[in-house]
Amino acid sequence: MSTFESLRSQGAQIYRAPGRVNLIGEHTDYNDGFVMPVAIDLYTYVAIKPREDRTLCIHSESFSENCEFDLDESAPRARGHWSDYVLGVAVTLEQAGYRLRGADLEIKSDVPIGAGLSSSAAIEVATGLAMGDNSGIEIDRVELAKLCRQAENEFVGVRCGIMDQFISCCGKAGTALMLDCRSLEYRLPPIPSHVRLVICNTMVKHELAASQYNTRRSECEAAVRHFADRLSGVRALRDVTLDDLASLGSELPCALKRRCRHVISENGRVAEAANAIEVGDLGALGRLMAESHRSLRDDYQVSCEELDVMVELASQVEGVYGSRMTGGGFGGCTINLVKADRVAPFKESITRGYQQATGILPQVIVFSAAGAAARHIESANSQSEVGGTNETSICDSNHGRDSVRYRHR
Ligand code: GLA
Repeated sequence: MSTFESLRSQGAQIYRAPGRVNLIGEHTDYNDGFVMPVAIDLYTYVAIKPREDRTLCIHSESFSENCEFDLDESAPRARGHWSDYVLGVAVTLEQAGYRLRGADLEIKSDVPIGAGLSSSAAIEVATGLAMGDNSGIEIDRVELAKLCRQAENEFVGVRCGIMDQFISCCGKAGTALMLDCRSLEYRLPPIPSHVRLVICNTMVKHELAASQYNTRRSECEAAVRHFADRLSGVRALRDVTLDDLASLGSELPCALKRRCRHVISENGRVAEAANAIEVGDLGALGRLMAESHRSLRDDYQVSCEELDVMVELASQVEGVYGSRMTGGGFGGCTINLVKADRVAPFKESITRGYQQATGILPQVIVFSAAGAAARHIESANSQSEVGGTNETSICDSNHGRDSVRYRHR
């Protein structure tokens, strides 16, 4: 019996949180802009059982590793280990005034690692929800998303925006989520039933991803300072228009002008895309996705050859409304909007074409828009979902597989 099953058989509660793709609105969340992600039906699962003390005993089935964490440690710090995501959430919840009980936690995940499908947000949200419930605390979903993001920013040290945690906390089955990342107001445009959402995984992740993400963030901040000096009320690139860019951007270095043009135009595309979905105009949505990809490739410069090949191939297949890179870029996945009755030939031609062009066998995943993180109650025939074979590890780790005991100082 796996340790997950064993904990479950001892009465542990199971929680799960979905990964995500982003339909449109890339690199806009940390600019206070708009995004439109969809939760996917690939999940991180957490089995949790309360303990009498204030220790978190965490085991990852995927890494076959244990770690222990004392919730009363005075100055906890990240160690560059997969468990940082869990500890970061625990520490952040405690700092926000939620007193947690100790617990045994077992974690496993279906969300592929390093594919840009938000495996880290899924582990944060699943464990945050589990640790809150385990402690008799109900945490508002938007609050949980904010705290998980804070954990990733401040404890793990990744400067992500709010999109990934928000969709994992607040997604709704059958819909996308159009989020205003400043006000956190959102609407839930339904995905039309005659279309399928298909992820194509390039199976590459270039080294550049993390450093370039931070560089883009700094470039945006520099551009905000430029406009804030010249215009009142500018707090983020969200507050700058294309007209402002034309009239006041001439002194900006060329690269920064391009970054601004992407963010400003992408915000406009998200608004148009939400309307297009709501009126069922998938042709318009597909065109906006294509523009988004071009803008990310040419202006924001976060695409890569493999992503461009994948998008180009998809655009030549009959029955494809739209295709673009999704997530931070420099590898990972594309998101494709495909007519329901054209999915099989789409899969076949993408697999063949991508393999011919790159020598790499891609992963093609047809998914359903999933609901938010929740306690997971299994029925007799959904057993395979939790113990499924499509299992991958939880997060990248450079560490060995030996058991580690964590005592944060
Ligand atoms: C990563 C981050 C998100 C977002 C995207 C780009 O996935 O975690 O917050 O910035 O990149 O849109």
